[in-house]
Amino acid sequence: MATSAVGAVVIVGSGLIGRSWAMLFASGGFKVKLYDIEQQQITNALENIRKEMKLLEQSGSLKGTLSVGQQLSLISGCSNIAEAVEGAMHIQECVPENLELKRKIFAQLDRIVDDRVILSSSSSCLLPSKLFAGLTHMKQCIVAHPVNPPYYIPLVELIPHPETALTTVDRTHALMKSIGQSPVRVLKEIDGFVLNRLQYAIISEAWRLVEEGIVSPGDLDLVMADGLGMRYAFIGPLETMHLNAEGMLNYCDRYSEGMKRVLKTFGPIPEFSGATVEKVNQAMCAKVPNDPGHLAARRQWRDDCLMRLAQLKRQEQPQ
Ligand code: NAI
Repeated sequence: MATSAVGAVVIVGSGLIGRSWAMLFASGGFKVKLYDIEQQQITNALENIRKEMKLLEQSGSLKGTLSVGQQLSLISGCSNIAEAVEGAMHIQECVPENLELKRKIFAQLDRIVDDRVILSSSSSCLLPSKLFAGLTHMKQCIVAHPVNPPYYIPLVELIPHPETALTTVDRTHALMKSIGQSPVRVLKEIDGFVLNRLQYAIISEAWRLVEEGIVSPGDLDLVMADGLGMRYAFIGPLETMHLNAEGMLNYCDRYSEGMKRVLKTFGPIPEFSGATVEKVNQAMCAKVPNDPGHLAARRQWRDDCLMRLAQLKRQEQPQ
């Protein structure tokens, strides 16, 4: 747990992701200051966090060792950015995904921060070389990309700028671990980072299989939810290879020719339009109508499942 001697964590942008970060950092015992350009967003965020934490406590899912009251007392709002960042040790930017806006925020922060604080962006897909170009405090800059909902999905991709100091990566990695997240080091920046590249590869082949009439949209989703996804919640694709034969070398001996044969049959990048989008949309809407009420209810169900899965994963310590 953090001690009071450690500087605060500042969240810039108090929307969906900013609120989640605030809860996670407070669960680790860090003092959190929530900043936003809209005062009302700060007020809403504080109220929303209070309600969320109470629900988490009731369901036994509150993270950390502190009580709800103790965690809430660590989080405060601040509508002045210079005051917010004074003495901070980590700034987590969470403004909308817009390169110009984020560059403006980082330029503003660059002018007022010291040489110690880490400047971290939650960006889902903007490259560090574009986000941080020209900043004086470049060595202290990093992208720390969470996955929604971050309270239940612990992965955080850490993507440095080529000039980011190794200590910045190490400190951010340690900070993420200290709040129970699961950081991974992306060693070189690449469009889509790692998670979205894997996700898009899956979406792409899923789309082609439906487009070619090989499988229905509903059954395609079942292949993932009741098949691959079952083990991917615990082990990745590389360890799956290792375990599905007598080790990795044996897997490649046995299956590489078959994999290459199938991979050669993969089609071009789908257009995600036309008759296939109609077909997929119809199937999805038959399952979950696309009005706000049904979508929100299904998201809530998904998050409840993820919460229980996160509890199970915490109990299942790796051997
Ligand atoms: P959001 O729209 O919910 O919240 C953005 C917040 O930033 C709002 O409260 C807004 O008032 C505030 N804001 C706008 N301009 C500002 C400024 N100049 N200074 C301070 N605050 C300002 O957005 P969300 O979904 O929380 O996304 C934030 C970042 O997190 C984006 O970069 C997004 O790509 C990334 N992200 C989002 C995920 C998601 O599923 N929503 C998942 C992973 C990352």
